[in-house]
Amino acid sequence: MLLSVDRVSKTYAGGRPVLREVSLTLDAGQTLALTGESGSGKSTLLNLIGALDVADAGEIRLGDTAYAGLDDAGRAALRRDRVALVFQQFNLIPSLTAARNLEFHARLAGRRDAAWLDRLAERLGLGDLLSRHPEDLSGGQQQRVAIGRALAVRPALLLADEPTGNLDETASTSVLDLMLELVRESGTALLLVTHSEAIAARLDRRAHLAGGRIA
Ligand SMILES: Nc1ncnc2c1ncn2[C@@H]1O[C@H](COP(=O)(O)OP(=O)(O)OP(=O)(O)O)[C@@H](O)[C@H]1O
Ligand SMILES: [Mg+2]
Repeated sequence: MLLSVDRVSKTYAGGRPVLREVSLTLDAGQTLALTGESGSGKSTLLNLIGALDVADAGEIRLGDTAYAGLDDAGRAALRRDRVALVFQQFNLIPSLTAARNLEFHARLAGRRDAAWLDRLAERLGLGDLLSRHPEDLSGGQQQRVAIGRALAVRPALLLADEPTGNLDETASTSVLDLMLELVRESGTALLLVTHSEAIAARLDRRAHLAGGRIA
């Protein structure tokens, strides 16, 4: 088992409980769709698994790493080396070309693999776009760079929070197709938040959040 989320709870200060003893597991290379109404806690759960925030109770493990034992530096190392995130907002760095954005995290992690970067650029159809800056790319093209950037470190786990939410249907389908192909090729497990039944149906498993619990 790659990821284990065991009875994790989260309440924001002054709010009502968002997650109540949520549990789920994910095997290496597996893909899981996470659905649920707006406000059901999907992003909250992703932020906890992505070590961007800390659970109030319960336990999260990635491989043999228990999150509860990590300090800030340990969480930063986890995000740098093993868990990658793709958001609805592409979050590319405006001053850098697509090529520099693509390799940005891999460079930071000291794991820049030129052959894998070439392969990603080719598979993502970025060949002719690498010298452009984000403002000169379409939304779908920017998201393809963001997905390539996330996969460039060959993370064990990719967390994607409505990654095609800002794209039209055609771009959304092609970006999703590429993401699924590439996680399979690199053996990366995927936890994908989506509102689309059609997308959820294409992944190995699905989980639904409602009332703070996984159904
Ligand atoms: N930083 C925060 N501080 C306080 N409350 C928050 C914070 N982040 C989220 N919430 C609240 O927690 C609940 C769950 O939010 P979350 O963003 O996890 O939902 P979601 O399922 O991702 O929704 P959506 O589909 O709209 O993205 C909401 O009621 C939200 O207002
Ligand atoms: Mg959300």
